[in-house]
Amino acid sequence: MAMLTTVYLLALATGALSASIQKITTSLDKNPSKVGFYLYVPDKLVSSPPVLVNPHWCHGSALDAYKGTQYAALADQHGFLIIYPDSSNTADKCWDVSSPGTLRHDGGGDSLGIVSMVNYTLAKYKADPGRVFVSGVSSGAMMTTTLVATYPDVFAAGSAYSGVPFGCFQAPTNTTAQVDYWGDACATGKLTKSPSDWASLVKEAYPGYNGWRAKMQIFHGTADTTLNYTCFTEEVKQWNGVFNYSQTATTVTPNTPVAGWTKSVYGADDWFEAYSAAGVTHNIQQQENLTLAWFDLACTGSDCFRWGKEVIERK
Ligand SMILES: *[C@@H]1O[C@H](CO)[C@@H](O)[C@H](O)[C@H]1NC(C)=O
Ligand SMILES: *[C@@H]1O[C@H](CO)[C@@H](O)[C@H](O)[C@H]1NC(C)=O
Ligand SMILES: *[C@@H]1O[C@H](CO)[C@@H](O)[C@H](O)[C@H]1NC(C)=O
Ligand SMILES: *[C@@H]1O[C@H](CO)[C@@H](O)[C@H](O)[C@H]1NC(C)=O
Ligand SMILES: *[C@@H]1O[C@H](CO)[C@@H](O)[C@H](O)[C@H]1NC(C)=O
Repeated sequence: MAMLTTVYLLALATGALSASIQKITTSLDKNPSKVGFYLYVPDKLVSSPPVLVNPHWCHGSALDAYKGTQYAALADQHGFLIIYPDSSNTADKCWDVSSPGTLRHDGGGDSLGIVSMVNYTLAKYKADPGRVFVSGVSSGAMMTTTLVATYPDVFAAGSAYSGVPFGCFQAPTNTTAQVDYWGDACATGKLTKSPSDWASLVKEAYPGYNGWRAKMQIFHGTADTTLNYTCFTEEVKQWNGVFNYSQTATTVTPNTPVAGWTKSVYGADDWFEAYSAAGVTHNIQQQENLTLAWFDLACTGSDCFRWGKEVIERK
């Protein structure tokens, strides 16, 4: 089986963190694949704090994600909680984004274990169930997409760096090892579908569900040799299909947030944006501040999360 071989260089955390990451050993009712549970609780939490889930990449760990991004330092500044789940798959530490269980609402697998961590955190810290977010890179991006598709009732928004469409790594039914199946056709860009077929996969992940759908932000490098750039153009088709948007962007902004990256916004509601990073490989630089802004996590006070409140009030 092929595996992701990219090793992420760990950025040195900027400045000393005020708190430290904890391993939660309380056993969770629904954690069939025994995902490890790490939590970062900053010294100063805002009241009814938001929750960010940050799944690691293949060959990485919860602690690598903690050390390798600026999110913990940003949580110190802004008072939100961070869940760092840790894959129990010691073979390659990739998330299960291929088995029928993990790809289905309440179906089991890694996605269910992570949602159990969200529930634990919401209850223990009286956190805001309307402000649960998820972001990751590579396998962490695939898990991000898996979580927003299978648990649209839990996640308010997602941000996926160098990932694939939801269901793209789904194991064929005749595969014996359905967990941690490497979707080679997907990774090499040979698996393409129509927007409505991609959207159907998302809808079938939680049949009958008609509520909130997380808004999505995606990033991909054009020179990605691990997950071909076609994975990105297929993701664009998928989310536009889910949101029933035109495949033509409403705005295209070059050199955003860095030179050579192009931001495309789809639809009229600022619900889906896609960043194409020219010349960038699989080892894409996460833009924590931009993702933080997408989740409105830097906002404090009573006027935060208007995009969420306005949608909820409209219902
Ligand atoms: C999480 O909590 C919600 C709301 O109480 C519940 O419906 C759901 O079953 C819980 N999920 C898990 C995995 O515990
Ligand atoms: C699974 O089915 C596909 C398509 O029918 C076939 O090409 C493949 O060889 C089968 N794989 C196994 C392991 O049976
Ligand atoms: C992505 O796949 C296409 C089609 O096979 C290929 O031409 C292209 O070189 C691949 N991109 C990269 C960066 O490997
Ligand atoms: C999707 O968008 C099209 C064109 O804007 C519209 O005609 C159609 O009613 C929409 N479908 C749904 C299910 O909202
Ligand atoms: C992110 O924002 C913080 C302020 O909130 C700033 O200190 C930091 O330099 C920014 N990082 C980047 C990479 O722009």
